[in-house]
Amino acid sequence: MKIISTPAEIASWSVEHHAAGETISLVPTMGFFHEGHLQLMRQARALADLSVVSLFVNPIQFGPGEDLDRYPRDFPRDASLAEQEGVEVLFAPEAGTMYPAPALTRIQVSQLTEYLCGADRPGHFDGVCTVVAKLFNLIKPEYAVFGRKDYQQLAVIRRMVSDLNWDVLVVDHPIVRETDGLAMSSRNKYLSISERQTALCLSRAIRLARRMVREGLRDCAEMLSGLKKMIATDDSARIEYLMVVDKGSLIPQSIITPDSLLALAVRVGSTRLIDNTVLFDDEE
Ligand code: PAJ
Repeated sequence: MKIISTPAEIASWSVEHHAAGETISLVPTMGFFHEGHLQLMRQARALADLSVVSLFVNPIQFGPGEDLDRYPRDFPRDASLAEQEGVEVLFAPEAGTMYPAPALTRIQVSQLTEYLCGADRPGHFDGVCTVVAKLFNLIKPEYAVFGRKDYQQLAVIRRMVSDLNWDVLVVDHPIVRETDGLAMSSRNKYLSISERQTALCLSRAIRLARRMVREGLRDCAEMLSGLKKMIATDDSARIEYLMVVDKGSLIPQSIITPDSLLALAVRVGSTRLIDNTVLFDDEE
């Protein structure tokens, strides 16, 4: 596996391999890999001749007071895991090479960012879209793989790609969970042993919501109040949002439909965790 650390070098690597007729898939990440990231890499490998994983803790997607400085990092471990997955290139630039001058440009996707994490984290998706746009321009992948764990991020990137006529196919991957249901996340590392138990309230809420729908419940307010009650039984869990939205528009719904998505963000201690599920399909 090749480790590339500058934008110029990854751009010329891409030109060289495209000239040889090879296709490229990209998995954008912020590192501290877990099985979720590794599954995305496997999917990327199956899609194209060559796969690139980017590892960049993107400063412009973190708000003031968020965890940029303490975001978990372990480059040697990440490099060895990516290599074991058979990735061709690990692109790990320094912030100073990605943003050599203050980034005055932002890509902003409206509407889809109005609720959920977009409402809680102003400017977050502008930072995500801007860095993903830079990665697409540098690497020019035919395929880019994103996880459904960050459902709003996936929807926003898909919309950016279609609005800006980018020639890249955005491929999604299901949420990868621990055996007890907790969605894998680099931020799970922040959790103490007791917080790790509390964190199960997110996946429990998802299972309960799906059961309510199977049993015929269609009223969102009734569902959300039941879920809130369940989450509130643990003092160290604080709901940031808990919403049923249309899975295409991400606009809140009052009646559950086949297009409903339940999404939630819960702060457990100081750690913000997110999860989501479609309410009808059997995919989870
Ligand atoms: P990061 O949180 O490292 O996630 C990288 C990719 O892994 C994202 O597409 C995310 O949805 C996916 N992922 C994380 N946990 C997952 C899980 N449990 N199951 C399935 N997929 C999972 O998301 C980012 O980084 C950044 O915002 C980024 C897109 C790299 C832009 O900086």
